[in-house]
Amino acid sequence: MATRSVELKRGLKDVYLDRTQASFIDGTEGKLLYRGYNIHDLAEKSTFEEVAYLLLYGSLPNQEQLDELDATLKSTRTIPEEVYRVIDLTKDGHPMDVLRTAVSALASFDPDVEDNTADGVRRKGLRLTSQAATIICAHYRARQGLPPIAPDQSLSHAANFLYMMRGVVPDEDEAKLMDVDFILHAEHGANASSFASRVTASTLADLHAAIVTGIGTLKGPLHGGAAESVMKMAEEIGDPAEAEAYAKRVLGGHGRIMGFGHRVYKAEDPRAQHLRDRSRSLGEKLGQPQWIQILDALVEAMAPYRARGIHVNVDFFAGSIYYLMDIPEDLFIPIFALGRIPGWTLQVLEQFENNILIRPLLWYEGPMDLEYVPIEARA
Ligand code: SDX
Repeated sequence: MATRSVELKRGLKDVYLDRTQASFIDGTEGKLLYRGYNIHDLAEKSTFEEVAYLLLYGSLPNQEQLDELDATLKSTRTIPEEVYRVIDLTKDGHPMDVLRTAVSALASFDPDVEDNTADGVRRKGLRLTSQAATIICAHYRARQGLPPIAPDQSLSHAANFLYMMRGVVPDEDEAKLMDVDFILHAEHGANASSFASRVTASTLADLHAAIVTGIGTLKGPLHGGAAESVMKMAEEIGDPAEAEAYAKRVLGGHGRIMGFGHRVYKAEDPRAQHLRDRSRSLGEKLGQPQWIQILDALVEAMAPYRARGIHVNVDFFAGSIYYLMDIPEDLFIPIFALGRIPGWTLQVLEQFENNILIRPLLWYEGPMDLEYVPIEARA
């Protein structure tokens, strides 16, 4: 057989899959735009509801359009009784497994599930954004043997999420912190979970199926799971003075410092600074500065890696904020998922708009044309 050769693009590194108008990422500059708007402006001046509109409709809303989206989100904060039962049956599982299972179950009760029109996908994407918050909070309560807390329709998406979790209306600072966190996690191009959602959409399956794929993919520690790993790492380190030795030990053993590095960013992830600043001020406000001090010490210990394009990413500081907000570590990834639902929805919208089945190749290197030997003749 003539020797065949092939140029593999493992992990699809540096491969452009398609054209997009969702987000622009400049990995060299550390720049991120959602639909043309800089993430710094959106983080400082916008709201999650406004960003969800921007992503799904392509422009910033006027007041009437924003009010309509807000009303839609508020009117869909409920889930069928049967899905509460699914949550209760699976309540001992990881919150990402419960979220994935409950979203899958929602498909059985959503009359629009097969509607792949742009309006249908947008409507379901907003509905799932609200219902996912309800699922996460219902599970958080169920595993403590507590009944779910009904949504407070006077609250924003972020404030209501915290309310349904704790039963206490969050103060303005905490609600704003959660809102900014959702904005920063809303969309990020062909990241692994969004790519997975696109693959699902490319077969002309439906949005529920694509979001279930996204949730399943996001869970891994190389992707959305990093925030949970970073906080576990900070707790293991325990003292800023121990950070350098910890990093040396992990890196010496060819391990990874979670929350660092990125497939695209070779400069600092522009989202990180918004979480670093807020983690620092929240830690000082609560008299718990040690967490940001440990993280800062790790950043210093990793300084030599900057030359290789390894900087903090969005997940590095997020975990310390959730921890300071008394949110359990296994809820960190579901919070990422909650922010990302508009982004997954937009990626599915774009895939449906100009669909092509996503089906790459694998270069076969196994044996060829073997003779089939009946079992009685095998050794
Ligand atoms: C997210 O893609 C997205 O957009 C994702 C995301 C989004 O918004 O959707 O931005 C969210 O997932 C952020 C990333 C969260 N993951 C982590 O923090 C996990 C730790 N980081 C890594 O494992 C790694 O950086 C990846 C997986 C994120 C990216 O890895 P790549 O692009 O496949 O690069 P690689 O693993 O081949 O690493 C290249 C080199 C290697 O050294 P060499 O083998 O060439 O000597 O960089 C080193 C790696 O060892 N390296 C690290 C490192 N990350 C990369 N070394 C130490 N610590 C790290 N964290």
